[in-house]
Amino acid sequence: MAAGAGLVALVSLVAAVAAGGTEGDWKVSLEFNPGWNGSLWNGSWVNVVHVRAQGPLATLHWVWSSLGAPSVLLVASGSPRSRLSIDWARLLSPEPAGALRVHPPGSVSSAGAVAFTKLFEEKAPGEGFFQPYDLAEFSWENSNVTLDPSALTFRLRGIPGSDPAGAFANGSLEFQVRALPSPGRSSLPPGLPLVPGGCELRFQLSGVSPLGNGSRSRFLLEVAALDGAGARRELRLRRELDDEFAPGVFETQSLVAQSQSGSPLSFLLWRSIAYGSPSARRQDGIRCRAGELRGGPVPVPPIARAYFGEGGPGTPLGSSALNVSFGGDGDGDVFRDVYRERRFLRWSVLVGFGEPPRDTFSPLIISVVAVALGTPLALLLGGTGLVLLVPRSRYSEYEPIN
Ligand SMILES: *[C@@H]1O[C@H](CO)[C@@H](O)[C@H](O)[C@H]1NC(C)=O
Ligand SMILES: *[C@@H]1O[C@H](CO)[C@@H](O)[C@H](O)[C@H]1NC(C)=O
Ligand SMILES: *[C@@H]1O[C@H](CO)[C@@H](O)[C@H](O)[C@H]1NC(C)=O
Repeated sequence: MAAGAGLVALVSLVAAVAAGGTEGDWKVSLEFNPGWNGSLWNGSWVNVVHVRAQGPLATLHWVWSSLGAPSVLLVASGSPRSRLSIDWARLLSPEPAGALRVHPPGSVSSAGAVAFTKLFEEKAPGEGFFQPYDLAEFSWENSNVTLDPSALTFRLRGIPGSDPAGAFANGSLEFQVRALPSPGRSSLPPGLPLVPGGCELRFQLSGVSPLGNGSRSRFLLEVAALDGAGARRELRLRRELDDEFAPGVFETQSLVAQSQSGSPLSFLLWRSIAYGSPSARRQDGIRCRAGELRGGPVPVPPIARAYFGEGGPGTPLGSSALNVSFGGDGDGDVFRDVYRERRFLRWSVLVGFGEPPRDTFSPLIISVVAVALGTPLALLLGGTGLVLLVPRSRYSEYEPIN
């Protein structure tokens, strides 16, 4: 009986929502260029932001940096007292191996890094590419002035070191980062679920002129992943119910690092949509697609080399990369018009540790189901408890480290 099955689903949903209710917030702090008073080196700004997130079972060290390609290193430790140390002279040298350590080393359960290596502009679907922008050759602003320790936010913003076509004359590329102490949901579409200890990342292109003078070009961002011994990456696609957070978007994708035994170590998660306006209105949606995940060598950014070493004993690096494209292949996609008109693109990603959160049903969907099943439910539940159906969605805690 359909109503019966719906009821079972609804009751287990209530149980799941109720079960997540007691976890405490994580202790999260941000530090800019830890252990160094400076931020200018050889005429360039050096940005290294350490996000330390301490939860009940793990301490996560996120190290975001614009040294080389913009990148983030994640080191998970089982010790509540674990700390990061940076040997700055070595980190800024051409041989940064060993410059970055987490103490005590025996407490580290996993480590990985993600780098945003290149921005491509495709002339038109299937018609080749302009010269790519190598993000390792960008010149970055001083992130210290953007760091807000109470909001736990900062950004890395840059423009190409050399830009003969003037595409970035009025524009920039930036990564906005927010560290997350508590669970919840992003206030901006596509309303990504937020997990404590993770970071919300927004990739944003604003004011950048497309090189294509027709209206058919589109941008792609290349994302590279580097993982410690035995780990491998997997691209997952999940179908979702349509909901009010991202109307019409049915897909969530995640790039998950897994240990040899298959347990998830860390992830990037996003919905298959970007937006062509800061307010992320529905009509400004831009389809985003992940290309094939390819194994093979990728450029290793200095912070990853600083932690993993130069591939010395015990630190073989697994690497893989994929392109995320913004705008479709002509299937009625409006990206080109939206971008051309507004010169704005924003793509939101959740970066976290452990298993990617499973999106629960949104409050709207729950209320709709509740109303649809209201009468039989009211009878069955004796008229109590229905108001419990509308709390914020909660997500399971991170997997314990062992
Ligand atoms: C940059 O903005 C100025 C003033 O708004 C404009 O004159 C110029 O054409 C723009 N350049 C590009 C490359 O869009
Ligand atoms: C730009 O316009 C010129 C002349 O109108 C044309 O020759 C060229 O192929 C165009 N380039 C692109 C990428 O559309
Ligand atoms: C991304 O696309 C560009 C242009 O086609 C290509 O050169 C590059 O190898 C791609 N990267 C990956 C990881 O697929």
